[in-house]
Amino acid sequence: MYVDNDPIVLAHARALMAGAGHGETRVLQADLREPQRILTDPDVRGLLDFQRPVALLLVGILHFIPDSDRPYQVVAEFLDALAPGSCLVLSHGTGDFIDPQAGQRAVDAYAKSSAPVTGRSYAEVLRFFDGLELLPPGIVTAPFWRPDAPATAEDARLPIYAAVGRKRR
Ligand SMILES: C[S@@+](CC[C@H](N)C(=O)[O-])C[C@H]1O[C@@H](n2cnc3c(N)ncnc32)[C@H](O)[C@@H]1O
Repeated sequence: MYVDNDPIVLAHARALMAGAGHGETRVLQADLREPQRILTDPDVRGLLDFQRPVALLLVGILHFIPDSDRPYQVVAEFLDALAPGSCLVLSHGTGDFIDPQAGQRAVDAYAKSSAPVTGRSYAEVLRFFDGLELLPPGIVTAPFWRPDAPATAEDARLPIYAAVGRKRR
């Protein structure tokens, strides 16, 4: 189940799904900041069995949710609805490795777009995993999360954290 609030993204997704081979994939136009609207959607309930573990993929999206829109509560509401053994898969922009001026330039550029960005520090990203078991290797820059090929020193400074946490059984 892919959820996005941008009608253009949904139009492309539906066009892609008009072809063969999309299996059970479905798309829903909704806002991440409204977990209950998503969790109670009939298509979501029809596709996912909430009695069994599922993976919640919040990949490249939480940095578009500013603190004023309660991102930690949003994530907690989704996790509350999931069975033990479910996983939170997350990637998140960070300013931890870039000089503050470059970070501010990135924030300024996004401020003019439809999706202003909020980078978060290691500690702030860790907070999304409250109550979860963080799977190895923990929170690392994305190329270091179980890489297929050796990651480089430069990869260590990529401004995107990645991590997976599991809800305890
Ligand atoms: C960087 S893309 C990542 C998309 C997808 N998760 C992936 O990994 O391919 C970010 C997406 O988040 C969507 N988005 C931003 N804010 C959102 C919100 N509040 N609710 C739902 N989708 C949102 C944007 O429309 C965009 O398609």
